[in-house]
Amino acid sequence: MRIKVKIKILINRINKNIYRLSALIRRISKNRINPKFYADMITMKINRIIKNEFIPNPKEHLYIEVSNICNLRCRFCAYSKSLKNKKLIMSNEMFYNVINKATLFGYDTFGLTPIVGEVFIDKDFIEKIKFLENHPKVKNYSFFTNFTLANEQIINELIKTEKLKELYISLYGHDLETFLNITNGNKKVYNDLIKNLNYLLKKCGSINFTLSFGLRTTRSSFKSLEKCESDVCKVVRDIITITKSHIQILKSFNTWGGMITQNDVKGVDMLIRDSSQIYKNGACSLIFYKNQVMVDGVINACACRDINATLKIGDLNIQSFEDIYTNRNIDYINLIQDQQQGKFNSICTSCDFYRSIYKDYFVYDKYKKKQMSLKKFYQYLYLIKK
Ligand SMILES: C[S@@+](CC[C@H](N)C(=O)[O-])C[C@H]1O[C@@H](n2cnc3c(N)ncnc32)[C@H](O)[C@@H]1O
Ligand code: SF4
Ligand code: SF4
Repeated sequence: MRIKVKIKILINRINKNIYRLSALIRRISKNRINPKFYADMITMKINRIIKNEFIPNPKEHLYIEVSNICNLRCRFCAYSKSLKNKKLIMSNEMFYNVINKATLFGYDTFGLTPIVGEVFIDKDFIEKIKFLENHPKVKNYSFFTNFTLANEQIINELIKTEKLKELYISLYGHDLETFLNITNGNKKVYNDLIKNLNYLLKKCGSINFTLSFGLRTTRSSFKSLEKCESDVCKVVRDIITITKSHIQILKSFNTWGGMITQNDVKGVDMLIRDSSQIYKNGACSLIFYKNQVMVDGVINACACRDINATLKIGDLNIQSFEDIYTNRNIDYINLIQDQQQGKFNSICTSCDFYRSIYKDYFVYDKYKKKQMSLKKFYQYLYLIKK
């Protein structure tokens, strides 16, 4: 057992160091060598041989999609590929019902970010938040937004919240020109965003939640937030000065299971990752701990990159949580076993968001409960009573 822990620590250390060196080696070798691929291969193979598995707590959080409708059409996002899907907003009644059942089942933390869609399209979103705020069994909730559809009243309500853990504002473009190119939006929407950010600036001294920003913009025309003098950069800089918020500036973008390619961002200087550069060994950890109740009640084993719910493991319209999260659920067990044998469906095959259960990712550091093995996960399913 001790040897296993030592090996685990050692390979994690090796993997992290190779990861750090990776960018440099790729640059020097002009992308011919990708050390991260080989570091992952070695790490995952060794961990698999010694049965070191890293599955986060299955009740860490539950994602609920309140709306799959968006007001923008970002070029690098799969939303524009989902326009033929039924577009819905979850009713308050259904949302309250899902929360009541989910909390009875043992969830207390919720993610409201849709796979694709915008929460503030839902005119009742604040009502839904109030329900979470007043629910005795809800500990906290978080969500992403493009913030263009917020307004003073909504911001005032967000400021009053006590259980909102993280509000993540996604910023598209660093000025009007890049905003229009990236989102296919218009000047009014950009001005609404600036207005909302300015109002947030006035109020942000009294927020109780973690505010984070994600900037998705073109590579060549953006140097740094400090050097950028656009309206959006100035106000975001001012907010960050007060709130000490983190801003993540994405350098490359996911393929959405092969749906988004370099062709989709033609004419915009953005890089779409190459999923063939991702080494896969074992099931993706998301199917164990990052599931989503889709807007129509279907439970999708992936809350992140599967827009068509091809990883459906149940349906809350006809099943309970207890029917879905059990070893009696053949769809779920088959999905896990197929992925373990390397049989990924087409979305997962072309997905660069994949996280192997045979690797310890730094994103897990924020979770309080320790990761579990596959055997423990099956025991957890086995113990769920009808
Ligand atoms: C799909 S959006 C849904 C929530 C909301 N509409 C928003 O834009 O924040 C969730 C997050 O995924 C990010 N995203 C979308 N497409 C992406 C891609 N190809 N690669 C990386 N992140 C992406 C968005 O920028 C956003 O921060
Ligand atoms: S990234 Fe968000 S705002 Fe942009 S199209 Fe996708 S869902 Fe909409
Ligand atoms: S491989 Fe990608 S699409 Fe499949 S479960 Fe993992 S994150 Fe989701």
